[in-house]
Amino acid sequence: MSLYFTTPTAWALTVWQLFNPRISWLIILYLLYIWYGPGKKAAASLSWPTYLRHWSIWKHLADYFPVRLIKTVELDPAKRYIFGLHPHGVLTISAWALFASEGTNFSRTFPGINLRVATLKWNFITPIARELMLLLGFVDADASTLRRVLSAPGRAVMLAIGGAEEALLARPGFNDLVLNKRKGFVKVVLQTGAALVPVYTFGENDVVTVVDTSKVGWARSFQRGLKSITGFTLPFVYGRGLFGMPVGMLPHRVPLTAVVGAPIQVPKFTGDLKSEEGLKLIEEYHARYVEGLKAIWNEHKNKCAPNRRRSLEIVQ
Ligand SMILES: *[C@@H]1O[C@H](CO)[C@@H](O)[C@H](O)[C@H]1NC(C)=O
Repeated sequence: MSLYFTTPTAWALTVWQLFNPRISWLIILYLLYIWYGPGKKAAASLSWPTYLRHWSIWKHLADYFPVRLIKTVELDPAKRYIFGLHPHGVLTISAWALFASEGTNFSRTFPGINLRVATLKWNFITPIARELMLLLGFVDADASTLRRVLSAPGRAVMLAIGGAEEALLARPGFNDLVLNKRKGFVKVVLQTGAALVPVYTFGENDVVTVVDTSKVGWARSFQRGLKSITGFTLPFVYGRGLFGMPVGMLPHRVPLTAVVGAPIQVPKFTGDLKSEEGLKLIEEYHARYVEGLKAIWNEHKNKCAPNRRRSLEIVQ
């Protein structure tokens, strides 16, 4: 969803230029490179150089809102971590400005922590956007990739746990999460003996206005039709315009504050996760993670979300 605008645009441009006889051969070569080249493998490992993490554009992005990073405790670089990011929001600005890049000096704030942001595998076949993600060190979110990333001390991987479903719940003032039915990340920490780190970004749901389509017949039909064909749906969103125009495609300038909570150390479990003991451990650490996330919310909500319309709510 962070690629809400770029994915359709990238594909539309690619398909359009495929019919341009002067460069269609180039486009075909590029598509072959995407499919057969090393990128997909790089997305499942740490083998790609992350040159773009230090790009100054991320500092400008962080300054635009502005975005702030709050550390509540030190993280020991001898350990390994899964960072859970909430809420997903429509654009997941905090993932780009704070965690996939050095927009707010992540590596100086958490020395020795090599953090990678994980995203859906299919993002790595999207033209152009994939090159950006690869050069920022994104990895795919398959469980096997997460385990591989976490195989050495100091490594960390971040997941927007609520995913696209949570993106559909994003609207200004609301803090609705999809978390109860998400258990995969707890299984990976149990298998690797890593620690869980809850992260809450206040303001993430405020950066774009989501149009309520429940009373707009044609819009609803379009979203339903798209969902029945592709399996996903798109919220209609808008932000502010250039030169102070009230409506446009730029995100609203609202302060974002990402609070990185205290790590919850999980014991390595080598048994069967489907056994009674395994299932109990999954429930136990999932509950402790939810507790940690709610603790962040309760401690910072008055300062960081004074205009909230509803408190944090885990709706699914
Ligand atoms: C990041 O580090 C640079 C150089 O020390 C500093 O000027 C800048 O203010 C820092 N940014 C943040 C958001 O802390």
